[in-house]
Amino acid sequence: MMLWLWSQSWVVLLLISLTVVGSAQNSGKYSRDDFPSDFVFGAGTSAYQVEGATAEDGRSPSSWDTFCHQGQMPDKSTGDLAADQYHKYKEDVKLMSDIGLEGYRFSISWSRLLPNGRGAVNPKGLEYYNNLINELIKHGVAPYVTIFHFDFPQVLEDEYGGWLSPNIVEDFTAYADVCFREFGDRVSYWTTINEPNVMAITSYDLGAFPPQRCSPQFGIFNCSGGNSSVEPYTVMHHILLAHASAAALYREKYQVKQKGWIGLNVYTFWCDPVTNTTADVKASQRAMDFLVGWAFHPLIFGDYPMIMKTTVGSRLPSFSKRESELVKGSADFIGMNHYFSIYVKDNPSNLSTGLPDFNGDMAIKFSVSRDDTPSDPFVPSSSTFAPTGLRNLLEYVKNYYGNPPVIIQENGYGERGNETLNDTVRIDYLDGYIGSMIDPIRNGSNVRGYFVWSFLDVFELLGGYHTRFGLVQVDFNDKELKRRLKLSAQWFSNFLKKKSSRIETQIKAIYHPL
Ligand SMILES: *[C@@H]1O[C@H](CO)[C@@H](O)[C@H](O)[C@H]1NC(C)=O
Ligand SMILES: *[C@@H]1O[C@H](CO)[C@@H](O)[C@H](O)[C@H]1NC(C)=O
Ligand SMILES: *[C@@H]1O[C@H](CO)[C@@H](O)[C@H](O)[C@H]1NC(C)=O
Ligand SMILES: *[C@@H]1O[C@H](CO)[C@@H](O)[C@H](O)[C@H]1NC(C)=O
Ligand SMILES: *[C@@H]1O[C@H](CO)[C@@H](O)[C@H](O)[C@H]1NC(C)=O
Ligand SMILES: *[C@@H]1O[C@H](CO)[C@@H](O)[C@H](O)[C@H]1NC(C)=O
Ligand SMILES: *[C@@H]1O[C@H](CO)[C@@H](O)[C@H](O)[C@H]1NC(C)=O
Repeated sequence: MMLWLWSQSWVVLLLISLTVVGSAQNSGKYSRDDFPSDFVFGAGTSAYQVEGATAEDGRSPSSWDTFCHQGQMPDKSTGDLAADQYHKYKEDVKLMSDIGLEGYRFSISWSRLLPNGRGAVNPKGLEYYNNLINELIKHGVAPYVTIFHFDFPQVLEDEYGGWLSPNIVEDFTAYADVCFREFGDRVSYWTTINEPNVMAITSYDLGAFPPQRCSPQFGIFNCSGGNSSVEPYTVMHHILLAHASAAALYREKYQVKQKGWIGLNVYTFWCDPVTNTTADVKASQRAMDFLVGWAFHPLIFGDYPMIMKTTVGSRLPSFSKRESELVKGSADFIGMNHYFSIYVKDNPSNLSTGLPDFNGDMAIKFSVSRDDTPSDPFVPSSSTFAPTGLRNLLEYVKNYYGNPPVIIQENGYGERGNETLNDTVRIDYLDGYIGSMIDPIRNGSNVRGYFVWSFLDVFELLGGYHTRFGLVQVDFNDKELKRRLKLSAQWFSNFLKKKSSRIETQIKAIYHPL
């Protein structure tokens, strides 16, 4: 109890100091009209985190069902019910429309659409996504669809080890083909794969996400197999090839007719050196190359960053000439998920035996606040608000990668415990981060959209039901899972509706050729 009180006042203190930092930005001083009219504002979720109905209507288990049913979540929770969007999608789309969301980013459950991982389409799965998409369009909310968001079909994991095997390229492409064929007449924005860099590290280096693989010395879980020095790199390589293969298929077979865009999503930090010593400044650039460049570099230049090639050596797969050409330019846009900045110190690896893992190769130490305040890096607290990080990141992507179109696909604030509807901290966070995009936009950044994570409270992959990111509250203690708008939803709604000439949210109006 004492500790709780102490930490509450600590948060209040930080809030006060942050208000000062925030006002240096464009906080509160801008409107929807400061963004181009074809810039899209929305909010997102993902299938396993929101749908529930995991054993209904022919859906087969995903790797996340397996993980949760083995009791691997710290609070033993599962996504069996989640926010039950499978049954409540009409109510949810109505709320989106009331708020004025211009886009909804959601993902398709692979094992709901293709219960065997490949082959026969599940008619009930097909019907659900058709209903959801039609409902969105009826309400003027553009569907932004992620084809794969962490929930891998268990049947393919068991068959050949999922993303570790090159077989995945063919199966992922065939699954994407079904999505384009069935939904592409109404979906203009496709994201192939969510946060491949996070998946490679958390699932195959730290063993913290399914399929929980790691070498014993690097895992934060006890893994039954794995190799943290090699597997993260192998998995990322297969993800890039699978993305590129699906994108090539889309361009060949669908894009001319359907006129959509296809992209890959990447989790992005902004890295600042802790000190201005040459070692820390170099370490900070190295961290950007390892964490962001790992995916950005191949998409833009057709190869991994030089620093990764020299450091990781033969453990880093190499692209053949054909693969390099396939991957280079394979994204019409890059989806960026961004929550906070990290502060980087050089940390030369000095393992006496064995090979390093991804973190050892990167050879940095980081904290989430400049003064080393301990904090959970996955749950941004008010101590980690740094909206300038997003501004810097957009300038960096413009200058370093030749200004590709990007969409901020996730940004948001997580609160632990039973949150009230009066979520003023979330409003401060969103206000700061949305405002931080204005200067880069005026300075030529090619950022095209912004999605809050999350539309409503969901099953969080790290926090279960104890961390809330939603604009809309879900009462998980209520049998009906009642939804209520938080203050942040009203704030966002006011921001969106004050726009003088309201954006046409019909699909056709949103599509603009590159
Ligand atoms: C891993 O196994 C060790 C030894 O059996 C045990 O002490 C530890 O609690 C386990 N850790 C986790 C995260 O399960
Ligand atoms: C991981 O794979 C590398 C390369 O095959 C090998 O040298 C190393 O011993 C393996 N490490 C573990 C922990 O199995
Ligand atoms: C590093 O140098 C820059 C430019 O002079 C300055 O703005 C920044 O505050 C310095 N950072 C630190 C941690 O001293
Ligand atoms: C690495 O170096 C630090 C500082 O000299 C030392 O404390 C640490 O034990 C070393 N770690 C290993 C694995 O050798
Ligand atoms: C949240 O509320 C529920 C139901 O009132 C209660 O059981 C639970 O302990 C609360 N959790 C926290 C972290 O306060
Ligand atoms: C909401 O929170 C703010 C800041 O913590 C506080 O000033 C305000 O009185 C609260 N409003 C309500 C209705 O509780
Ligand atoms: C604006 O863009 C130019 C060219 O990319 C860059 O050199 C400059 O630093 C940017 N300005 C700011 C304030 O970031």
